[in-house]
Amino acid sequence: MDPQEEDRILIEINRDLGYPIVTGPDLRAELRAFLGDRDVRRFVVLCDAQADVERLARRLTGGIPGRVGLLPFALGEKRKSLATLERVLDGLIAAGADRGTTVVGVGGGVASDLFGFAAATFMRGVPYVHVATSLVAMVDAAIGGKTGVDLPSGKNLAGVFRDPLAVFAPTNAIETLPFRHVREGLAETVKHGVIEGGDFFESLEVLAPHPFSKWPWHALVTDSAKVKTMIVADDRTERGARELLNLGHTFAHGIERASAFRISHGAAVSLGLRAAGLLALRAGRFSDVDHLRVLALLALLRLPMTMPLDPGPVFDAMQADKKKRDGRLRFVLPNAIGDVEYGVEVPDRDVRAVLKRMTAPPTDAEVA
Ligand SMILES: NC(=O)c1ccc[n+]([C@@H]2O[C@H](COP(=O)([O-])OP(=O)(O)OC[C@H]3O[C@@H](n4cnc5c(N)ncnc54)[C@H](O)[C@@H]3O)[C@@H](O)[C@H]2O)c1
Ligand SMILES: [Zn+2]
Repeated sequence: MDPQEEDRILIEINRDLGYPIVTGPDLRAELRAFLGDRDVRRFVVLCDAQADVERLARRLTGGIPGRVGLLPFALGEKRKSLATLERVLDGLIAAGADRGTTVVGVGGGVASDLFGFAAATFMRGVPYVHVATSLVAMVDAAIGGKTGVDLPSGKNLAGVFRDPLAVFAPTNAIETLPFRHVREGLAETVKHGVIEGGDFFESLEVLAPHPFSKWPWHALVTDSAKVKTMIVADDRTERGARELLNLGHTFAHGIERASAFRISHGAAVSLGLRAAGLLALRAGRFSDVDHLRVLALLALLRLPMTMPLDPGPVFDAMQADKKKRDGRLRFVLPNAIGDVEYGVEVPDRDVRAVLKRMTAPPTDAEVA
């Protein structure tokens, strides 16, 4: 992607969503210019206390006029809670934040959900900027304005929709991201590739055999973030097209739950993409060739394709999915790579047959 093309895409994203998603290897100058342009006079930085993230937060925001504090918090999914939210809000008070203070959050998806929620509720809401440091946050979590925390009874059960002022995705941050977390983001990126198709899916196929250190992350994050951005811009409150982003997720949520969350979300999404392909094949709406292309890509990226669980409990866990309406499960299924449909009803026996097939690795019989 040449630089002019990149500029064009960023402007387009900005127009559609109402706020910019800024991608680039290092965004110190861009962040400084943005805060200056928006006349941000006072801001507090909240960051994940993970050492690489905190270092990045200090480096990106150090020296920018108006920084009144930098507060690191030990995060992780278990700390995406009301208790941490309270600590964050107390920290903002202690740092002297007021209604005129902007919050800049730095971290992965846990940080964007939690700090975004804190900014949305602090003194009834202050402006928020997120600097995404994980691939999941760059291409998914930080885009779309969904913020919140988990409750003991389940994930993401308390929160609000609230748009940030901007999202920055400094792709050099991926250099320090552990491999398993890169994979988490890649599962969502493959999902975006199946939704978008065309050049984007092909670019993933071309890159997949090469080591991550050689990947043009800036271009890839831009393309992947753009898929989420365009869909979210069309459907801000999740009534229609945003469902497309749930490709593979009805299966994934069932798999996560049935495994008591031992299987990570990214791994479950990878399994869910194979399962959605199998279901679409059974319904006669997907081609063998496209299904095998998706499997080949997942394999090259070392994403899992075989479900290490009994199908029965997964089927039962899928029934709790919130996409279940009128007592029926509706699926997002591919008709082709680049043509995905939501709201598809499928007989239970087909879902059960797919889950059974998922317990064994793909073979030539997969598409027979
Ligand atoms: N709001 C949404 O629309 C949305 C969408 C998808 C996911 N999410 C949420 O996102 C969360 C998952 O996000 P995640 O996978 O980014 O988790 P995360 O924020 O916990 O980050 C993963 C791990 O990587 C570390 N890390 C982050 N950036 C790093 C870097 N640059 N270098 C080294 N280590 C780094 C973190 O400390 C953590 O240990 C979940 O809570 C999920 O519910 C929200
Ligand atoms: Zn997901």
